Amino acid sequence: MSEPSLIRPNVGRMVPYSPGKPIEEVRRELGLERIVKLASNENPLGPSPKAVEAIREAAAQLHLYPDASGHDLVQAIAAKHAVAPSQVVLGNGSDELIHLLGLITLAGPGDRLVMGHPSFVRYEAAAQIADAALVHVPVDADFRLDLNAMAKACDERTKLVFVANPNNPTGTIVRESELRAFLADLPETTLAVLDEAYFEFAADEPGFPNGLDFLREGHRVFVMRTFSKAYGLAGIRIGYGFGSNAVVDAIHRAREPFNVNSLAQAAAIAALGDDEHLQRTLSVNREGMARIEAMLRDLGGRCSRSFANFVYADMGRPVEGLFQGLLRRGVIIRAGRPMGGPNALRITIGTPEEVSILEEALVGLAW
Ligand SMILES: Cc1ncc(COP(=O)(O)O)c(C=O)c1O
Repeated sequence: MSEPSLIRPNVGRMVPYSPGKPIEEVRRELGLERIVKLASNENPLGPSPKAVEAIREAAAQLHLYPDASGHDLVQAIAAKHAVAPSQVVLGNGSDELIHLLGLITLAGPGDRLVMGHPSFVRYEAAAQIADAALVHVPVDADFRLDLNAMAKACDERTKLVFVANPNNPTGTIVRESELRAFLADLPETTLAVLDEAYFEFAADEPGFPNGLDFLREGHRVFVMRTFSKAYGLAGIRIGYGFGSNAVVDAIHRAREPFNVNSLAQAAAIAALGDDEHLQRTLSVNREGMARIEAMLRDLGGRCSRSFANFVYADMGRPVEGLFQGLLRRGVIIRAGRPMGGPNALRITIGTPEEVSILEEALVGLAW
């Protein structure tokens, strides 16, 4: 059997995920000493010291398999959010939960997945691996998810619709009333996935919805959160979701038994208890956001109203030169088509020092 016939054609058509450029790669390619990565929406303060300590302690038990049910972490998450532990499910990053949602709902070409555009690209893979139809709904003129159009795009064959709130890469939010109207418009066969990866950064905004309220009211939603962003644990891979018993149960059947490693479980429990680190993260984020927005506006960019830990802008002309110029000066950002178009860029908010390095790198940069 030749390989082309071995691999399912839809898998052959998939494009591997292209992450932000790793620091080491840029160091090798350009030989630069100082490199600042503002490209992957990571926490610039690093992990909570309490999480690092918990990892050290847990390391002594690495010869044992992890707790397959993630009992202690599930209990901690359930208690914090006042939901039943049976409604909580852990993932190897929320990326894994996206993948699993596709596996348990999409059966092939007859099924559809609806998402915004631009929005988080990993939703696309969930449709492609199942050979399901993928429907992109453009964001509106303010770079916000167009919930009216997304609801219209959902028919009875639509199994999943993804609402990233705040949205990545645009950082925009949809409000409680808009989400309520959207959910009321969905067909009975559609599960709305409320991806709240950046929830903590937007939580204080009046009218910003908490997806869990909709779950409690009995709406057909699955709510996703992660420890990768505000909690600073992207490297150890731990995300979590809340759903109906039926959806959570299906994910448990489909997942690998030990999908969340023991270090991740220990780190996440410790991070949940470190409110000081979270508050510092939010305050550094607010300060950096205002500064980076001002820089991009000075360059003629039109920024979205971002509620996440990154700034998104349409610069009005192709940004490849700006991206490359910043890279040569040791600053990695995200730009171009993966961000929704050739004129678009996204910059993750760094520490005050990193934002100053970006500011200096922009001085006199021709693009
Ligand atoms: C909207 C959104 N959802 C989910 C994820 C996945 O996060 P993780 O797998 O690290 O939990 C990301 C990461 O960038 C994201 O931006």
